[in-house]
Amino acid sequence: MKFEEKYKKEASCLSQLKPTKSSGIAGWKSPSNIALIKYWGKRDHQLPQNPSLSFTLDKSYTETRLQYESVGKKSQGFDVDFKFENRHHPEFAERIKTYLNAISEYLPFIRDFHFEINSYNSFPHSSGIASSASSMSALALCLVSMEKLLFERIKNDEAFYQKASFLSRLGSGSASRSVYTDYVVWGKHKNIPGSTDEVAIRLNEDISARFKGLRDAILITGSGKKKISSSSGHLLMSQHPYAKARYRQAKTNMEQLLRALKTEDEQLFIETVENEALSLHALMMTSAEGYTLLNENSWNIINHIRQFRKDNNLFLTFTLDAGPNVHLLYFAENKKQIQTFIQKELLQFCEAKQWIDDRAGNGPQKIL
Ligand code: DP6
Repeated sequence: MKFEEKYKKEASCLSQLKPTKSSGIAGWKSPSNIALIKYWGKRDHQLPQNPSLSFTLDKSYTETRLQYESVGKKSQGFDVDFKFENRHHPEFAERIKTYLNAISEYLPFIRDFHFEINSYNSFPHSSGIASSASSMSALALCLVSMEKLLFERIKNDEAFYQKASFLSRLGSGSASRSVYTDYVVWGKHKNIPGSTDEVAIRLNEDISARFKGLRDAILITGSGKKKISSSSGHLLMSQHPYAKARYRQAKTNMEQLLRALKTEDEQLFIETVENEALSLHALMMTSAEGYTLLNENSWNIINHIRQFRKDNNLFLTFTLDAGPNVHLLYFAENKKQIQTFIQKELLQFCEAKQWIDDRAGNGPQKIL
C-alpha cells in the first residue's frame, strides 16, 4: 500500500512540527461526477473491488468553507460546528466527526483545531442527486489546503491532488474521482498505467473534443430518500452470488470503453455504458435484499431515449447512478435537437419537471 505508507510516514513528520499559523480559512468548490464504469463493491478500508471510470461534472457541485482555529491542546473528540445551507445539521456534523477521526492518522494536527464548516450544494436539495462525491471531495480539498498552509510541505499540484484524492476516498469512494477534471479512473487496471486502488488518476489518453465535452442532462424522476443507501449496497456485494462475474465484467467493460473512447466508436460506447448502468441495477435486484431504486418513469425515459436514437440515428445514451434519476448523455453539437426532445418528450416523466442541464466540467476550484 504505497500511498498509505507514504502518508503515514508524512503524518509522523507532521506531528513533530509546529503549525506556522494558529487559524485560517480554506474554501473549495468541488463537482460531482458520473461513473460510466461503476464502482459497486468494496473491500478493506474503502478499496474498490473493481476499477471505475467517470467524468467530472460542471453544474452539480458542493461549495465548502472550512475555518479553523487552534485550541492549543490535544482534544479527544472533534470540535465541529457544521452548517449546511446556513443551517446547523447535526446528522452531517456527526458524519464529519467520524470522517475526521478516520483521517486523523494522516493529518494528526487536525485534533488540535476547532472547525467551523459551511457547505452548500448547487443542485436542489430534494433532487435525489448523490452528493457524497462532491461534498467529501470539497472537504478533503479544504483539509489538504489547510495542511499546505500550516506546514508548507506539499510541494506541487500533483502531490496536492493525490493526497486530496486519497483522503476523499476515505470519505466516499466515488469522491476520490472528483478532484480531477475530464475522464478519471479509480482502481487498478492492467491496461491503465499508474492506476491504483488507493487514489484516482486522470485518464491519460487522447480523447476527442466531442467525448471530452460530453453533456449530461440529469432527469429527476425521484427525489425521496433511498430505500437502501450506496454504502449498504456495496456491503450486499460481499455475499452476492454474481460478485465474481461482476468484477470481471467491470474490467472487460473498462477495456471496451477505453477502446470506444480512443477510436471514437459511438456504438461501442453506447453498448458499454448502458450495460454498466443496467448491470448496476440488476445487481441491486438480485442481491439478498432484492430491491430496485428505479421507478416507472426511469423506464419510460430509458425507452424513449432508445426509441429517439433509433428514429433519428443520433448519438445519445444513458447511465444511472444509485437512484432513479436518468443521466442522458449526448454531444454538444446536438444540444438543440436533444433539448427539444427533453422538453417535448421527457419532462413529462420528471418529478415537477426537474432536470439539470449539466456537462463535463473543469474539475474543482479553490475559492478561498
Ligand atoms: C453507484 O461512493 O457513494 O455511484 O464509498 O460507500 O461512499 P461509498 O459509496 P459511493 O458509491 C457510488 C456508487 C455509484 C457508482 C460510482 O460512482 O462509481
